[in-house]
Amino acid sequence: MDASLAGNGSMFQCNPHPMHALGKTLVLVGMMGAGKTSVGRRLAGVLNVPFRDADAEIEAAAGCTVGQIFERFGEPEFRAGERRVILRLLQEPPHILATGGGAFMDEETRARIKETAISIWLKADADLLAERVARKDTRPLLRNNDVRATLARLLKERESFYAEADYTVESDGGPHEQTIKRILNVLEERETAIEAATAAGAFGAGAL
Ligand code: S3P
Repeated sequence: MDASLAGNGSMFQCNPHPMHALGKTLVLVGMMGAGKTSVGRRLAGVLNVPFRDADAEIEAAAGCTVGQIFERFGEPEFRAGERRVILRLLQEPPHILATGGGAFMDEETRARIKETAISIWLKADADLLAERVARKDTRPLLRNNDVRATLARLLKERESFYAEADYTVESDGGPHEQTIKRILNVLEERETAIEAATAAGAFGAGAL
């Protein structure tokens, strides 16, 4: 097992992970509280590739927080900004990209992610999401009295879209290292499948 994933809480490592040659950007999608940002940042460290967080990029571009954007300009403006920022980030060299929970609902964003990137749905149930989001009070859609019910409703509305991601990885109550390990397994299996298909001549020139 990687020293970085030994489950002892330390993420240091002396050698980059063998999967460091990420061919495409890896996009994490899923609900608020699924762990996209924490998992994405650590995964980027393990793979030795850059990390981008779409919400942080929106905030940097707007010069205010996501909450302030919702308040001052409304959700539709936020969604338009979110789309622009993600389309821009998808043009950057391969990296790990954590998206906001609503981003994958946007048709154009979803189509561009499918065309240019590898997508992973970090799947978690409403109870776990509710527990995790309780740690922060920054999410405008959750500023109400029944956060768990809101999360359950959004999850129901959104899950068929999330399920369009290339892969689904469970984000359960265990440490983030477990989720990272699952993502690394997905990437390794994908790499092996591509190598096998290439060796068997399954792809025409330029298919990859
Ligand atoms: C949202 C999720 C948030 C943020 C905004 C809206 C959503 O990001 O983009 O508050 O619609 O689910 P996180 O998923 O990173 O919390």
